[in-house]
Amino acid sequence: MSEVPQLELRGVAKSYEGGRVRALRGVDLVVARGESLAIVGPSGSGKSTLLAVLGTLERPDAGEVLLAGRSVWSAGSDLAAVRALELGFVFQLYNLVPVLSARENVELALHGRVAARAERRRRALDWLERLGLGDRAEARASVLSGGERQRVALARALVNDPPLLLADEPTGALDRASGQHLLAELRQLVRERGKTLVLVTHDPAVAEACDRRARLVDGAFA
Ligand SMILES: Nc1ncnc2c1ncn2[C@@H]1O[C@H](COP(=O)(O)OP(=O)(O)O)[C@@H](O)[C@H]1O
Ligand SMILES: [Mg+2]
Repeated sequence: MSEVPQLELRGVAKSYEGGRVRALRGVDLVVARGESLAIVGPSGSGKSTLLAVLGTLERPDAGEVLLAGRSVWSAGSDLAAVRALELGFVFQLYNLVPVLSARENVELALHGRVAARAERRRRALDWLERLGLGDRAEARASVLSGGERQRVALARALVNDPPLLLADEPTGALDRASGQHLLAELRQLVRERGKTLVLVTHDPAVAEACDRRARLVDGAFA
């Protein structure tokens, strides 16, 4: 008996503009727990759409999305709970709130989940320290460098300790050294804490560092 995969797609299709743009055309995918997978492929091939579908941000037109064996779009599924408990997102544009501090940005992920303010603060600071940002915790997001913002976004994705991490070009805005450093941190987390990582990348070195690569072309795996 094999273990239930962390995630599975079965025949997932997604179109935009009333069907004129077929972003995904029947995609099957299985990712085991503890595995890291790099999604590669040309611009417009459906990579971001695939991540959005994996992250339950887009509902597929056809097919099934299973997280830890549960079909997320079937009747009775609690999407809010799935998002809060199963998923951590690291997106290209960081999505930080510029007027809030690094710490407050990380704490946002804990609102509604951790009632005690002091506990939210402790957890946020803990992750910022682990990612080498302890001394920047009280700086506003708007004054942080690109690399620092990316780390804050990573801390925010990790503070809930989700089993599945989704990242769209996590190193895309970083110089090569910062990108390699961030990737090393992500891979260490995957290894030490048994996380599953699915990332989209254009960087062959990033793709090579993952356990497995899958190439999307015109909305299907090549
Ligand atoms: N919200 C949207 N509305 C209309 N078309 C979209 C939308 N999102 C993506 N697309 C189209 O779907 C296709 C796949 O896009 P995307 O998933 O962003 O590819 P990639 O991330 O590989 O560049 C492209 O043709 C893109 O223009
Ligand atoms: Mg994209």
